[in-house]
Amino acid sequence: MKAAVLYEPGTPLVVEDLQLDPPKAGEVKVRVAANGACHSDLHVMTGDMRQPLPMVLGHEGAGVVEEVGAGVTSVKEGDHVVLSFNPVCGTCLYCTQGSPHLCETRPKTAGVLIDGTTRLHKNGADIHHFAFTASFAEETVVHESCAIKIRDDVPLDRACFVGCGTMTGVGAAINTAQVQPGSTVAVIGCGGVGLNVIQGAAIAGARQIIAVDLLDNKLEFAKTFGATHSVNPSQDDALPAVLELTQGRGVDYGFEVISTPKTIELAFKMTARGGTCTIVGVSPDGSRISLNPNVFMMMEKKLQGSYYGSTRPRVDMPRLIDMYMDGRLKIDELVSKTLPLEQVNQAYDLLKQGAVARSVITFS
Ligand SMILES: NC(=O)c1ccc[n+]([C@@H]2O[C@H](COP(=O)([O-])OP(=O)(O)OC[C@H]3O[C@@H](n4cnc5c(N)ncnc54)[C@H](O)[C@@H]3O)[C@@H](O)[C@H]2O)c1
Ligand SMILES: [Zn+2]
Ligand SMILES: [Zn+2]
Repeated sequence: MKAAVLYEPGTPLVVEDLQLDPPKAGEVKVRVAANGACHSDLHVMTGDMRQPLPMVLGHEGAGVVEEVGAGVTSVKEGDHVVLSFNPVCGTCLYCTQGSPHLCETRPKTAGVLIDGTTRLHKNGADIHHFAFTASFAEETVVHESCAIKIRDDVPLDRACFVGCGTMTGVGAAINTAQVQPGSTVAVIGCGGVGLNVIQGAAIAGARQIIAVDLLDNKLEFAKTFGATHSVNPSQDDALPAVLELTQGRGVDYGFEVISTPKTIELAFKMTARGGTCTIVGVSPDGSRISLNPNVFMMMEKKLQGSYYGSTRPRVDMPRLIDMYMDGRLKIDELVSKTLPLEQVNQAYDLLKQGAVARSVITFS
């Protein structure tokens, strides 16, 4: 089967034939129908996020179950699934108390499935899996908990975004930050994930949502997703602009969705006293931020991270799909470009240029 492999940071992905092992016990083989081009893969391509190479990238996928390993009960051949990049055990402390995104059994080793091995090979040599999904590929084998059954009538080139960008963004606003009706929000970075933070804040009933991005086309997308105001830091100094829009207070909820130390610090400064700042962006390895601790104390500001929108995959993902099918969640508006796997590098060129909200790779 064909897959997009990264051999060296800074080099293009190579689309080539690989061998895929059958699913072991507790695993599922999925024929991938579509996979979105998220910035997290780009972090691996640039070397900002170090991963064992060679590796098949892709982690925003949806497809159809082709085969199940022994003991699999939650899906069967022919089921439509969204791929979750967060395997869960269902029995650890965090799974049991309703936070499966923090599952304690998530392996510490990157690039392999949870038993520590890979199902991907080329001429006998191991190829690694990115994010337990490796879905820039015609087929993939994942842990059962990473194959989330969804309804059959949702187009898979839309459902795939629930595998990362839509879930991460909407979940960051609704699950992690728990944005309240009538509140004020600022979102720095309005790419595929940030647009969904905006959408999540709008669904939660925020009264003011300020989009911050260096690119005017992103600020236009942001309006479509529910932003009420926009600030372009290449034209206006972002902090005074946000303070002016909020009677000098700052926002109840700041979000950083890029990630650089500067923009994290900026999001924290934009957050009002008593407010909460949430880091969604994945920082390059070795990054450090610098903040005045007395601001936490004197202003009772909070700084937190959001991993995968604090998703409970089997609850949140089918729910988001229902909202999309009911016309209450925007996904079509996210898709600027549809490309075949052979043009996966073009999808990343477009992402780097900031030309798209999201591109999607579809498989025939
Ligand atoms: N927390 C998670 O679980 C999770 C999941 C998926 C992605 N992510 C991360 O979220 C981040 C965003 O991903 P994406 O796919 O939306 O990326 P993207 O490239 O589509 O969007 C980034 C946006 O930031 C803007 N930007 C860049 N520098 C800026 C600056 N200095 N000021 C204002 N705007 C600026 C760009 O114009 C772009 O619109 C990435 O770091 C990605 O790895 C995190
Ligand atoms: Zn992603
Ligand atoms: Zn667990």
